[in-house]
Amino acid sequence: MTASTASPASPASPVVSRTLHGNVLVVGIDHPPVNALSVDVRRGLVEAIEAAQADPAVTAVLIVGAGRNFIAGADIREFGKPPLAPLLPTVCNRIEACPKLVVAAIHGAALGGGLEIALAAHYRLAVRGAKLGLPEVQLGLLPGAGGTQRTPRLIGAAAALDLMLSGRHARAEEALQLGLIDRLGATDDVLGEGLAYVRELLAAHAAVRPTRAASALSDAGVDAMRAAVEAARKETATRARGLFSPMKIIDAVEAAFTLPFDEGLALERRLFVECLESPQRAGLVHAFFAEREVAKAPETKAATPRAVATIGVVGGGTMGAGIAVAVLDAGLPVTMIERDDEALARGRAHVERVYDGLVAKGRIKTDAKAAALARFTGSTSYEALAQADLVIEAVFEDMAVKKAVFSELDRVCKRGAVLATNTSYLDIDEIAGATSRPADVIGLHFFSPANIMKLLEIVVPARVSADVVATAFELARQLRKVPVRAGACDGFIGNRLLAVYRTAADYLMEDGASPYQIDRAMREFGYPMGPYQVVDLAGGDIGWAARKRRAPTRDPRMRYVEIADRLCERGWFGQKTGRGFYRYEPGARTGAPDLEVEAIVEAERLRVGISARSFTDDEIVRRLMCAIINEAANVVREGIALRPLDVDITLIYGYGFPRYRGGPMKYADMLGLPTVLAELERLSQEDAFFWRPSPLIVKLVERGADFSSLNGTAS
Ligand code: 3HC
Ligand code: NAI
Repeated sequence: MTASTASPASPASPVVSRTLHGNVLVVGIDHPPVNALSVDVRRGLVEAIEAAQADPAVTAVLIVGAGRNFIAGADIREFGKPPLAPLLPTVCNRIEACPKLVVAAIHGAALGGGLEIALAAHYRLAVRGAKLGLPEVQLGLLPGAGGTQRTPRLIGAAAALDLMLSGRHARAEEALQLGLIDRLGATDDVLGEGLAYVRELLAAHAAVRPTRAASALSDAGVDAMRAAVEAARKETATRARGLFSPMKIIDAVEAAFTLPFDEGLALERRLFVECLESPQRAGLVHAFFAEREVAKAPETKAATPRAVATIGVVGGGTMGAGIAVAVLDAGLPVTMIERDDEALARGRAHVERVYDGLVAKGRIKTDAKAAALARFTGSTSYEALAQADLVIEAVFEDMAVKKAVFSELDRVCKRGAVLATNTSYLDIDEIAGATSRPADVIGLHFFSPANIMKLLEIVVPARVSADVVATAFELARQLRKVPVRAGACDGFIGNRLLAVYRTAADYLMEDGASPYQIDRAMREFGYPMGPYQVVDLAGGDIGWAARKRRAPTRDPRMRYVEIADRLCERGWFGQKTGRGFYRYEPGARTGAPDLEVEAIVEAERLRVGISARSFTDDEIVRRLMCAIINEAANVVREGIALRPLDVDITLIYGYGFPRYRGGPMKYADMLGLPTVLAELERLSQEDAFFWRPSPLIVKLVERGADFSSLNGTAS
């Protein structure tokens, strides 16, 4: 803070400072890393307001944040623990009731409870670069410190609902336009701007102005309000299907124009507590911390990343083109290598097509496309990669082809270059063995479409050096991906779990459930698509090839269901062939159930001597979840995933697992591991090989512990 005439006021809390600037008491929140509203901050704020009120030398209060943010909101780590006074709504009411002028000066993030503190102040200023929002919905909550009552009174119900239901951040300029703030600072000196604004208000004898008395709601009229609420309800019913807090947000905002302020606040509090106690809040808060935790691997602490300024991509197919776009989007140059001129032209066209799509959807402007493409070069000669700092291979999934590519990379790349493969299943140690520098070889497993999907599995083979792993994590940060460290094994974390999920679904199908019932049950659970819709989307031929490849090494104790093979033998590979588990009209992406498929399923049951039994949707979900949880426990036990939370993030970001359930391991903890174990033991009477409980689950249950005990985090 730049305080020329400042003098410290009476001793304050360690996290809330009080400094007198003439007759203005500056209340500074200094609680790193993000000034979250922990109990100490709440207490300090109330004490500061009371001190200001009692001190005749103070005529106004300015609230500012120290460090990079104003206030990032409630302290998320306190959720789920017994509440400690003063509660945030009390703090906000106390600020608003102060008879002296209170102004908030905002820089960085003013989110959730942070914005609610600002909304309780009588005037608000923000400097450029500030971001204001009510993102509670992303944590399964609603703004619970008056946000649902004050925001609509200030900016109207439609704008308030938009902020609360999307959870998006509004920039300072937009906040001014909306009426969320009163003044945009001319410079980024938040304290200087704030003090000048307070002095201006004092000089103009500006009134103390409680937001509860703001009139946007009455100005807009009850009919407009009602229309906004009804529109939000309708849209939320489809867009946020299965989510608990969005409808509660709408109920609370409705109360802002149907109830007096204090009754509205009371309703908000009741609804907030309902959300706080919901399993969705627990799942979403777990995901919040887990997605930050995954970026911390042993190597990121122990080693310094290598510098990466130029990147090569080998292969310009689906993945190579998508990876190239992801890298170009991060502002880095890309050199693409293809087999011949024709394939290279296809690769380049593929990259251009991705950008054309983004332009057509209005996501980027034409000049952004041109700027990105200016960083793109292609070649059919590996020599073009001589100066690349990092190369990502994305050629056919064939060991011989991959080895040939890596031996070329070994020949041309400079010493110290990182050599990465995007293989889905192949043995990366074997690929590394094709080079004279296995310490430089790593797996970077992107997901399709690679420029959109957030997950990046960083696959760590035995001989790779720590700084190469650290480089991969740094690259993920630059590409704005969510990195998960995975050990090398068949399928790494994600595809290994996908395989058991599919197998368990196939068992259900052969035993009597229709693929359509299975898909519906999983959609109801929260997946955007059921397992057979995913097969049809990805192409049945891919799984078929993998099954044929694994056939010679398949454990004879493993039950094998041939239904999908029967479809593939007919050339029914899914969407791309118009038929798969579903039938597709030309060009359609949504398929219709197919009686012929049901007949094939029935014929297969007959062939293997199974008479169909019925399953409830609930049984289907239980079995598929148990299959994933059990294999995930093995993945953790074997050290393929560092912690259970790495599995959770892999499935949430790569496989459509519903975020509000926190990932399969968090879900298992919420079900209770003894319940999961009992179910596995019951199922293993049907098939002792597939359903054998993971020794990790058995051990945790014996100890009375759960997966979260292995995460090393608070959530
Ligand atoms: N409470 C506790 N810890 C928090 C926190 C919060 N509200 N917000 C961030 N943190 C922690 C993170 O976990 C991280 O911890 P780590 O270093 O141990 O991993 C650290 O602060 C830094 O966070 P980021 O890595 O996310 O830092 P960035 O600079 O990238 O982003 C941010 C800063 C934009 C503020 C981002 O952290 C963020 O979006 N935070 C959450 C904001 C939010 O959801 N607020 C609403 C809370 S609910 C609420 O307020 C209820 C109320 O209505 C009653
Ligand atoms: P693709 O068949 O679309 O593309 C492969 C490309 O590699 C083709 O353009 C081909 O011309 C080129 N190529 C082949 N040999 C080459 C060589 N020696 N030198 C230069 N280029 C060569 O395949 P796709 O789907 O892009 O897959 C590539 C890799 O990515 C595979 O290892 C696959 O397992 C993996 N992967 C695929 C995912 C997907 O969803 N398609 C997801 C994640 C990983």
